[in-house]
Amino acid sequence: MDYSPDVLNDSERAVMRLRALYKQYGYVPYKMSRFEEYALYAENKAFLASGDIAVFTGPGGKLMALRPDVTLSIVKNAKDDGILQKLYYNEYVYRPGEYEYKEQMQAGLECIGEIDTELVCEVVMLAYRSLRALGVNTRLEVSHMGFLGGLLQSGDITPGRREELLPCISGKNVPELRKLCREYRLGEDFQEKLVSLTSLCGPLDDIIGELRRISVNDETEAVLQQLKEFQFVYNGMEPELELNYDFSIVNDLGYYSGIIFQGYIEGIPKKVLSGGRYDKLLRKFGKNAGAVGFAVNLDMLEKQGAAGKMINIALPKGRLGEKAYAIFEAAGYGCPSVFGDSRRLVFENPDNGVRYFWVKPSDVAIYVERGVADIGVAGKDTLLEQSPDVYELMDLGIGKCRMCVAAAKNFSDGQEKTLRVATKFPAIALAHYGKQGREIDIIKLNGSIELAPLLGLSDVIVDLVETGGTLKENGLEPSETIMEISARLISNKASYKFCHDKIRELCNRITVNHGVQ
Ligand code: PRP
Repeated sequence: MDYSPDVLNDSERAVMRLRALYKQYGYVPYKMSRFEEYALYAENKAFLASGDIAVFTGPGGKLMALRPDVTLSIVKNAKDDGILQKLYYNEYVYRPGEYEYKEQMQAGLECIGEIDTELVCEVVMLAYRSLRALGVNTRLEVSHMGFLGGLLQSGDITPGRREELLPCISGKNVPELRKLCREYRLGEDFQEKLVSLTSLCGPLDDIIGELRRISVNDETEAVLQQLKEFQFVYNGMEPELELNYDFSIVNDLGYYSGIIFQGYIEGIPKKVLSGGRYDKLLRKFGKNAGAVGFAVNLDMLEKQGAAGKMINIALPKGRLGEKAYAIFEAAGYGCPSVFGDSRRLVFENPDNGVRYFWVKPSDVAIYVERGVADIGVAGKDTLLEQSPDVYELMDLGIGKCRMCVAAAKNFSDGQEKTLRVATKFPAIALAHYGKQGREIDIIKLNGSIELAPLLGLSDVIVDLVETGGTLKENGLEPSETIMEISARLISNKASYKFCHDKIRELCNRITVNHGVQ
């Protein structure tokens, strides 16, 4: 029986459109089981979006998992007979949400076999056309893992340091990147090249000069050649859909070797598509073939909202928010009504193209990550605690304080028993003591942390110290500084793509007026 398209929901219609597109280019459908042995994922955790996997015991006591990813199953089963396989699928994957596991519908394709530039271009073109089949204003952003790999090699960066540098690069977090480079005593020249690569985005013609300037060795030179050839072949194949490059896009260097890419649709707060060349994954399975592919997250389509004309800015309620607003105002983004009515939470000034929201300080990153706010001002403490998927664009140099361990003056940690730590910041405390290998018992509190050691609830606290007054008045003193804290300007990743000019201009005006990094 034929069904009219009216009876299909958005996600089903999307699947039909993508299926027709992939079939047209000779891809054949691939069906797989929802279950796999857990070992497949346990051995390849760094390839997955998250290390959390829904596990259960299967027949015979075997540890099984609900598939969190499709590519690993395809690669595991792929024949290594030199014959090119072009496959497409639409399948559910099971991934952790904030509080529970979610079933997500994915569509995508994989090519396994001998991969040449034409084939990589075809896959990138199909990725872009997939976006176009699903949304009106779309962006496909391309990067190449080899360039960053070559640069890191030239700086002799150890794998441990690489793990620390990569989140700064993918978060466009230049202040933190500089800080780490100084800490590692990396040369000025290397540091400047890494910062430049992190900020580099635009069409290849616009950025190739800068890439040449920061190219350091044979590996980065080879990538330049590959990129030129790739862009040339792509232009011949798809002259309409212009690619944008963004070298802050990074994937795990252990799996990805060449071109990688991400897709965005205006009105959807997160990337909806990601893919790339992952020959190294095939090597891990002992196969000689190369591979390139992508997946589209079809559930994200339901989150599609209307794109606004104004920049939406989430400000933390309170003194920090007022200081932050003063910075925006001085940069020309004033909104005179903002302090007018103390009960209202949303204020806008269409003349300046801005809308401000007053939100609880610890909620700013949530509003920005989910795209309700395009940008926001959040303390580094909440960013470290929540690890939101946002760009950290600037250190605004306000709200300065320290994250400290503090205890009663007469307390000394003899390490003979588990240390009881009271804090509003369990993730920061766990990471701090984890590095020292110290066993701790976290007591999560929501405020007035200084009370905990006074009343014997904890041995120490991990908390913010600004003037030190609260500690002093309660007979406590800081014993260790974990890190310096200040307020950061953060941006939603999709907003940064679609309102790039507006957000860059705002950052530039703040830099000029306020003199921050
Ligand atoms: C913060 C922090 C300390 C205090 C430090 O508390 O948790 O208690 O400020 O400031 P100081 O070093 O200048 O004395 P906040 O005011 O946010 O209230 P809370 O105790 O409810 O968390």
